[in-house]
Amino acid sequence: MKIPIIICLILAILIPIAVITVLVMPQEPISDAEQLRIDPVEALSDQPKVTAQSQNQFYEDNLPERPRIIGTVARGEWSANPMILNGTLNGQWAAVIPIKITPQFILQGEKQYAVFCASCHGEAGAGDGPIALHARNTNNNESQSVSPPSLVGDSITRKPVGFYFNLISNGGAKMPAFGGRISPKDRWAILSYMKSL
Ligand code: HEC
Repeated sequence: MKIPIIICLILAILIPIAVITVLVMPQEPISDAEQLRIDPVEALSDQPKVTAQSQNQFYEDNLPERPRIIGTVARGEWSANPMILNGTLNGQWAAVIPIKITPQFILQGEKQYAVFCASCHGEAGAGDGPIALHARNTNNNESQSVSPPSLVGDSITRKPVGFYFNLISNGGAKMPAFGGRISPKDRWAILSYMKSL
């Protein structure tokens, strides 16, 4: 029996397509497989990203996160009191928290601390958050990771509170800047919580 030419043509197209599909079908995206994997769509686990404490060469300052633009204030964050916004008073670091401290205020700080700080400094501020432990475990001569310090005891009373407000707002050597992510009031709330630790 003679196979019609049209069937031959369809098969000639379909068979290679089927073979290619099976070949390029992405395997389990997360696997230890060492064999060649042909991914038509890049797996999420392989995407380019800036990892913790690494640099981003895309920007001149190599910072992975963008600092907030100088002179700008987010909506609802402005305060007539420069002490609240910058933690300074007459060019000096503020010595006291410029907002009335209530139990509710400290509670608010605790919540914000859990969201933004506990991953590094630990839930109770002992410097044992998962990121700190990871930094310690992977520390070797080549790694430049700095382990987040403990915040309990005298560690946040050595300098005026305004100094620490500025550190939280603008970041440290390895600590990220939170000025663009936490409102000034919540930054003070976090400090009031930290002082209660
Ligand atoms: C990615 C990890 C990381 C996160 C998240 C982080 N920190 Fe830090 N923090 C550090 C590191 C590392 C240092 C050491 C000093 C430096 O980098 O300048 C530090 C230092 C500090 C210090 C100074 C301690 C001292 O003894 O001088 C304070 C205060 C502090 N952090 C508060 C906070 C608060 C509040 C938050 C949350 C808003 C926070 N940190 C979030 C990593 C982190």
